[in-house]
Amino acid sequence: MHSPPASFAPASVAIVTGGESGIGRATAISLGKARVPVVLTYFQDVDAAQDVVARIESAGGRAAAIQADVGREDAVERLFACAEDRFGPVDLLVNSAGRNMTGVMIADMPLDQFDGLIRADLYGPFLTCRRLVRGLSAQPDRRGGRIVNISSIHEQAPRAGGVDYDAAKGGLAQLTRTLALELAPQRIAVNGVAPGMILTPMNQSALDHPEERHRKEAAIPWGRAGTAEDVANLVLFLLSLAADYITGTTVTIDGALSLTIAQGA
Ligand SMILES: NC(=O)c1ccc[n+]([C@@H]2O[C@H](COP(=O)([O-])OP(=O)(O)OC[C@H]3O[C@@H](n4cnc5c(N)ncnc54)[C@H](O)[C@@H]3O)[C@@H](O)[C@H]2O)c1
Repeated sequence: MHSPPASFAPASVAIVTGGESGIGRATAISLGKARVPVVLTYFQDVDAAQDVVARIESAGGRAAAIQADVGREDAVERLFACAEDRFGPVDLLVNSAGRNMTGVMIADMPLDQFDGLIRADLYGPFLTCRRLVRGLSAQPDRRGGRIVNISSIHEQAPRAGGVDYDAAKGGLAQLTRTLALELAPQRIAVNGVAPGMILTPMNQSALDHPEERHRKEAAIPWGRAGTAEDVANLVLFLLSLAADYITGTTVTIDGALSLTIAQGA
């Protein structure tokens, strides 16, 4: 069964961070195919980013790729200026860029590692959300917008070896909720999406090793890991007109994995 295509506010323009890979890539492609002009950021892989742009353009959409470290204020300013210059004011934002946890316990974690992850996963959304709000506030028609922050089930469920990641995603949950409250009068909706195990390069080891993948999938009540497209479908809904009045919440997408805590012993 095909669902009807999502519709978006007229003249919408989207920025998707981390758009060269995984969830950001799938989201950028879906938005582009839905005819929303999209600017995706890439960190290192220009070829992957150009491939996303080519896929969108060959489907009749419009897209551009810009290199940006989202944890840097100057890079985020440049990103939005380029996007506005190319397509107009940005009213849709998906923060997907992020680093993963490494399993390093606190005693062995260098400050640089903690700092780098917090910069990518928490400073990044702060900087992009702030710039989106400033950009929209400068518009004479003061139209609303939509922000989706890609969090994780680890925003609530901690895992040993992830003090940097868990702290960043926990902070992101509160950033999302606080901004929803602040920005409701401007009709800018702010929501989070908390994935469980999704088969992207962030889970490269499960992609490379079928035994590991099957072992991990056996722990997921739904019986499989999610795909980047599963998450992109949810993100597109939250960005669409159909999601009007949803703000300040985080939607979990994990095949019920996070509900298995405290089962058994
Ligand atoms: N894959 C999963 O199982 C899973 C689960 C829960 C949450 N998430 C979250 O989903 C988001 C997307 O992850 P993914 O699975 O698509 O992984 P991914 O590794 O495919 O994509 C992450 C992207 O972020 C980029 N990035 C990292 N640091 C950056 C920085 N400082 N500036 C700009 N870009 C940067 C990387 O280059 C990469 O393109 C992340 O925030 C991640 O925490 C993923």
